[in-house]
Amino acid sequence: MTGPSDSPVRLHVVTGKGGTGKTTVATAMALALAARGQRVLLAEVEGRQGLAQVLDVAPLGTEERTLVTDPSGGEVVGLSVDAKTALLEYLQKFYKLGRAGSILERVGAVDFATTIAPGVRDVLLIGRVYEAVGRVTKGAKKRPVFDSVVLDAPPTGRIGRFLNVNAEVSDVAKVGPVRNQADSITRLLQSPATAIHLVTLLEEMPVQETLDAIDELGTLSLRVGSVIANGVRQPILTHDDAAAVADQDPRVHEALEAALTAVGIKTGPALVGGLLQEGADHVERARLQAEQHAILQALDVPVHALPHLSDGVESGELGLLADVLAEQEGL
Ligand SMILES: Nc1ncnc2c1ncn2[C@@H]1O[C@H](COP(=O)(O)OP(=O)(O)O)[C@@H](O)[C@H]1O
Ligand SMILES: [Mg+2]
Repeated sequence: MTGPSDSPVRLHVVTGKGGTGKTTVATAMALALAARGQRVLLAEVEGRQGLAQVLDVAPLGTEERTLVTDPSGGEVVGLSVDAKTALLEYLQKFYKLGRAGSILERVGAVDFATTIAPGVRDVLLIGRVYEAVGRVTKGAKKRPVFDSVVLDAPPTGRIGRFLNVNAEVSDVAKVGPVRNQADSITRLLQSPATAIHLVTLLEEMPVQETLDAIDELGTLSLRVGSVIANGVRQPILTHDDAAAVADQDPRVHEALEAALTAVGIKTGPALVGGLLQEGADHVERARLQAEQHAILQALDVPVHALPHLSDGVESGELGLLADVLAEQEGL
């Protein structure tokens, strides 16, 4: 396990195909970093309140709020980034438009943040995250307010556009503060301080999306920190047993019948046949999983595996995923 300062990464962007566990993994990653004593900002940008659900806390707001404190002194601070609030904060910071901001809001001018070009909206969202990464403490001895920031990002289908802020603003701002802001954000995203993590299940479709995302991010000079294989199921049969079950070896049939009889269960062809089918299905799933795992391991990117939690994530088992992530190098 590495300490708080061993990794150059300050911003972890967590993406993946929808439903593969982005929000769960982002939360577990924030907990793992906090367990190392880090002060971590955990942010979402789609207003889904997924983080609050995973952590079972009240909905997150546009103000940062401490969600979890770790005995090590680390903590997880939560934030739901909203484009309109981000714009008003931005105007306040750069133009000291405190009052003007509220006037703008009243006349409805900031509707542009939510209705105009989605690209501008993305820049506001990621800009708010950028601000948090770069924020330093007040006073003589400045140090980062957050040791790291974990972003529960949009899914892989949109991640390239979301992070490609330069292209997004090039239509609306060729020069000026917005352009400069976009350039600074891009510098951070392309630097070793940013790692993009791709969450996937070990199934054909999400793995293919992962491969596509790696290609797309590469063309944007964005670095993939790791692929996180989530929901990995432990094979329950040894190699030889699996082969015997898959081959419908008659000896398996006999052994199963004998075992059932030994514990007093009345067997019949339907029961034994059904169980053997279950077994064959399991072996096939394990084979497909191993096949997809091998595809990922052939990549030039670290692959971390997180177990499938059979009781679901809500039952306080999130810590289990955090423990596995805490052991990974490069986080
Ligand atoms: N390792 C896991 N084991 C069991 N269930 C999981 C695991 N990871 C995620 N889930 C469940 O899968 C569903 C989707 O997860 P979520 O994190 O919301 O995905 P996403 O943010 O990518 O849409 C949720 O119901 C979540 O509890
Ligand atoms: Mg989610």
